[in-house]
Amino acid sequence: MFYTPRLRLRAVEPEDLEQAWEWVNDPEVHQFITTTWPLSHQDEVEWLERQRRLPLWQRPLSLEARTDEGWRLIGNAALVRIEWPHRWAELAIMLGDKAFWGQGYGTEAVQALTGIAFDILNLHRVQLEVYEYNARARRAYEKAGFRLEGRRREAIFYRGAYHDSLLMAVLRAEWTPPEWWRTWPYPGAAAGHGITERPATPR
Ligand SMILES: CC(C)(COP(=O)(O)OP(=O)(O)OC[C@H]1O[C@@H](n2cnc3c(N)ncnc32)[C@H](O)[C@@H]1OP(=O)(O)O)[C@@H](O)C(=O)NCCC(=O)NCCS
Repeated sequence: MFYTPRLRLRAVEPEDLEQAWEWVNDPEVHQFITTTWPLSHQDEVEWLERQRRLPLWQRPLSLEARTDEGWRLIGNAALVRIEWPHRWAELAIMLGDKAFWGQGYGTEAVQALTGIAFDILNLHRVQLEVYEYNARARRAYEKAGFRLEGRRREAIFYRGAYHDSLLMAVLRAEWTPPEWWRTWPYPGAAAGHGITERPATPR
């Protein structure tokens, strides 16, 4: 598992699919992602089967936020495509739980995946595509260090109008890791604390 100050990124389990089914069928969520048609529970099961046939590092990760009641599933994210000869990956993220939007969780998850791409997979560039009308996502990517590189003009038709799709990317050399990245692989690691974030009990 990968840890950030408030999140952990773990493998997707079949139990996550019920939640994912709700999210991808929520119009407020799917207006921003590629699946704009209702999906069935069976579609979700087949999606996970397809993901499990991918190389490990391209498989989606479930995002869980630390809450007072324990870890709570709030979305998923992945390096959906990796081009090894060119050393780039394409990043995708969905926080399905709208209660967690706008509190920095998305930025934190994107920072973690970018760090994983650069410092674990030894990639050179991370890129993504975002619809122009998705202002929240664009800002989150910007905060995580991504720059606007270009646009696919009128590439998206949604609710009776064409919209541009924006291309954003960050290069390894221009990436500034967040402060907490230094205590990788989990916050507190440098201080010798365990992943529960309690100081180790002296023996
Ligand atoms: C996109 C997404 C990952 C962002 O994560 P998040 O946790 O909501 O975003 P963050 O809180 O990290 O950052 C959002 C930023 O956008 C800003 N923002 C929110 N709504 C905005 C709007 N309408 N216009 C401009 N900025 C906006 C916030 O103020 C914040 O910036 P700030 O910290 O400078 O104030 C998440 O909202 C999500 O998954 N949404 C649904 C699916 C989706 O859009 N996926 C991405 C497809 S490319």
